[in-house]
Amino acid sequence: MKLSTSLLVLTSLTASTLARVIGGKPNQFIQPYKREVLQDIVTWDEHTIFVNGERVLFLSGEFHPFRLPVPSLWLDVLQKIKALGFNGVSIYIDWALLEGKSGSFEAEGVFALEPFFEAAKAAGIYLIARPGPYINAEVSGGGFPGWLQRVPGRLRTRDESFLNATENYVKSISEIVAKAQITNGGPVILLQPENEYTSADETVVPEFPDAVYFEYIQEQYRNAGIVVPFISNDARPAGYFTPGSPGGVDIYGYDGYPLGFDCANPYTWPDGNLPTDRNTLHEQQSPNTPHSVLEFQGGSFDPWGGLGFDQCSELLNHEFERVFYKNNYGFGITLLNIYMIFGGTNWGNLGHPGGYTSYDYGSVIRETRVIDREKYSELKLQANFLQVSPAYWTAEAQNGTNGSFTDTNALHVTALLGNVTNFYVIRHSAYNSLDSTNYKFTAPTSAGNLTIPQLNNTLTLNGRDSKFHVTDYDVGEYNLLYSTAEIFSWKKYDSKTVLVVYGGPGEQHEAAFTGVDASLVEGSGVNIAKKGDATVLNWPVSTSRKIVKVGEDLYVYILDRNSAYNYWVTDDIILKAGYLIRNATVDADSLSIVGDVNATSTLEVIGGAPSKLTTLTFNGESVAFNQSSLGVVSSSLSYSAPELDLPDLSSLTWKYFDTVPELSNTYSDEAWTSASLDFTYNSHRNLTTPTSLYSSDYGYHYGVLLYRGHFTATGEESTLFITAQGGSASGFTVWVNSTFVGSWAGADYANNGNVTFNLPSLTSGSNYVITVVLDTTGLDENWTVGEEEMKTPRGVISYTLSGHSSQSDVAWKLTGNLGGEDYIDHTRGPLNEGGLAAERAGYHLPGAPTDSWNDVVGGPLAGLDKPGVAFYATTVDLDIPSGWDVPLSFVFGNSSSTTGSNGTSAVYRAQLWVNGWQYGKYVHNVGPQDSFPVPEGIWDYQGSNYVAVALWALEEAGAKLESFTLEAGTPVKSGYGPVTVVEGETWSKREGVY
Ligand code: GAL
Repeated sequence: MKLSTSLLVLTSLTASTLARVIGGKPNQFIQPYKREVLQDIVTWDEHTIFVNGERVLFLSGEFHPFRLPVPSLWLDVLQKIKALGFNGVSIYIDWALLEGKSGSFEAEGVFALEPFFEAAKAAGIYLIARPGPYINAEVSGGGFPGWLQRVPGRLRTRDESFLNATENYVKSISEIVAKAQITNGGPVILLQPENEYTSADETVVPEFPDAVYFEYIQEQYRNAGIVVPFISNDARPAGYFTPGSPGGVDIYGYDGYPLGFDCANPYTWPDGNLPTDRNTLHEQQSPNTPHSVLEFQGGSFDPWGGLGFDQCSELLNHEFERVFYKNNYGFGITLLNIYMIFGGTNWGNLGHPGGYTSYDYGSVIRETRVIDREKYSELKLQANFLQVSPAYWTAEAQNGTNGSFTDTNALHVTALLGNVTNFYVIRHSAYNSLDSTNYKFTAPTSAGNLTIPQLNNTLTLNGRDSKFHVTDYDVGEYNLLYSTAEIFSWKKYDSKTVLVVYGGPGEQHEAAFTGVDASLVEGSGVNIAKKGDATVLNWPVSTSRKIVKVGEDLYVYILDRNSAYNYWVTDDIILKAGYLIRNATVDADSLSIVGDVNATSTLEVIGGAPSKLTTLTFNGESVAFNQSSLGVVSSSLSYSAPELDLPDLSSLTWKYFDTVPELSNTYSDEAWTSASLDFTYNSHRNLTTPTSLYSSDYGYHYGVLLYRGHFTATGEESTLFITAQGGSASGFTVWVNSTFVGSWAGADYANNGNVTFNLPSLTSGSNYVITVVLDTTGLDENWTVGEEEMKTPRGVISYTLSGHSSQSDVAWKLTGNLGGEDYIDHTRGPLNEGGLAAERAGYHLPGAPTDSWNDVVGGPLAGLDKPGVAFYATTVDLDIPSGWDVPLSFVFGNSSSTTGSNGTSAVYRAQLWVNGWQYGKYVHNVGPQDSFPVPEGIWDYQGSNYVAVALWALEEAGAKLESFTLEAGTPVKSGYGPVTVVEGETWSKREGVY
């Protein structure tokens, strides 16, 4: 554990800075730095950023390292992003995971960022760092640690106690990020302070948007050594904190989620959801910075009771990318970050209550790291095109109009005009139209105004599609006079130039080259004709490839879009291959390719191979090949899936531990925390109990919370009313002594349960104890400044025991994870453990002393015949051949046949641990998630794994899992490199366990 030794320094720094900003008036802005003197590596003009003087079209994807706690898999994801044609990644950093106790910042093990920075460098990826301190991100508290519930100052405002609370984190994280800035040879080129500082309840924060606060956050970063430019992410293009304005950043950016977050109707695109005014707004708001979008919708989050991420990936699919992303390009956006590109997992209680364990997000790369969604391939086509089209980077975006450049008002065209090359983005005027519309395209070219197609037929735009047409586009020494087919990539080599174009099914396309002849060298069906000085090619799209030789040495590969999906571009090579190409290296006469296959695949290097290839390797192994006279290399990559012998969980012997020992009459809660505070530190909600029962007042914030209420019976008790609050889908069960009195099953719509339980008759004068076991689902975010939602307390928030005139008759104790903010397991961080007895004792950790526990064949499949929480543990041996990336998931059977005691679907929930890492929370009666991927590295794929399940039956009838299996996805033969099993604390007897 690394304790901050710099608190004293911080305090004096804070005091001096605060003196300048607290109560500051707008004319008291400090101009804290001059960018020019800080660094000159990352610069910008009105078109793009530059790195080391070179223009960079920054195409980036959002990836949160903390949602994949296996550092040796980071390179895999980064390479998959790079292979899209992207050169950037944006990372959030989650304060809650790094400062579980105020003043103790720790970023080691899986939380260390240095290995991520190294992986980004290795992958050739630049980074935007987004350390918050507020991040939203569907994480618990929006990134705020639980202890902030006790800070009186208003969150995300200039209130001194809030600002003070951020100092240690911002200073500590900045030191780490600062070292990784490009100025120090690292990959970080930009930093985003705060997050979507755009919405507030202005009745309580009248100074909003508060430039004093926004400036303060930036100054914190500057003071701590951040020199790269600041970029912002307004939640919408509101124009807050534009460069030069009070509190302004260096580069203004905004976010956009045009289809929202409800995946209920994945085929419905509501009228009016396509942004149309972004170019105008950009010119008004920040004309001197590159048009930047820090978060553009790449998928959607999904709440408890939601529809599941497959449906979200349908809504935000490849067609969405075509229409919405190309609409973005039409605004001349040159800095674009897709949120999320890889979502990952809300393991170890890190999520907010509005989401469940999976954070797949329906994004381009699945939670399992599999890239079989069509949206991956579509994005690859788009990104590669833009990266080889420097004319786009500086083109002037025009405002689009219906009916311009075509012969129909049904289409809308946006022009981007360059010095020579022009780009035209075509879509349906009714952006959501499902029609196929025929049209002719008329545009100025170096050969005059042309109406295209010139040869025959008509162009067609299919429904939910959008296209780039180009004119006078530079392909090495060739002038592509125009093309209605879209460009995937091109490259000029010593001996030839290669251009790859594609079109969609049922389309006719036309392209023309200036001043050269052309001939068909492969395939058929291309009409080639002269028009003036140009040679025109016209063809119907078909699945059989055509190659046209143009002039001396330009080879135009004409593909259908689905075939184009199989092409890849590396730094030097253009090739056709299967599932994934990570990189290719030419060394004299040999070519080494690294990639992945999930089926036997053709490999064809169409550009960039040595002219006389002697050795071809794929993932280090030599493969046979042929080379044509044109230098094209052909080979086949063989694939044959390994036999996987996954254990049958139902026939394993599981060890059983009753994890509610509190119900025994010999149980002592002496060591529990007394809920004795007669006030709360929480400034957001007044107490409605005699003493505070808010868990955060006592340092417990995550996972299961337990309460014990001791009282002496009057004999008049008939009911117990309880409100317990754990967030959406939270649930609780209540006992009096060992007698079950009832449960709140939980529901997606409810943050808390209000239940009146009937009590058994109690004996006057006897002592009783109420036990409440409450499952919580995370702390709320704090999106709207002033609402203080993050401070929404967790725990029992009100109760009434009938037959007692004073509720002070009940003396409460509580617990959560052992140690609270002095948490025990520093390898898995402050959130991984909750308060179940098994967790308090560390029984979820490998090496737990299970020998003395009873055996239960099938464990959670045998289940409970009464309410309670049972903890089952077993060993799962895996023997997955190395070099095979095999997605493994636990699948909970969810048949509707099982009914609970009241005739409804049985009410139970479960938590899952693999080798000590909490990797799933399943709520049978809420859903939707029933498949829980767990990555290699959390698993040991070639060894023994300690797997535990806590099954919680909330009803009289008890519960059992109907089926519970370990399932494998398609094995991928992968060039991802060795995966190291992450090191986590193993079990040892814990001091003071109760
Ligand atoms: C944005 C926010 C992100 C994330 C996203 C939705 O408003 O900046 O952190 O919450 O919405 O997934």
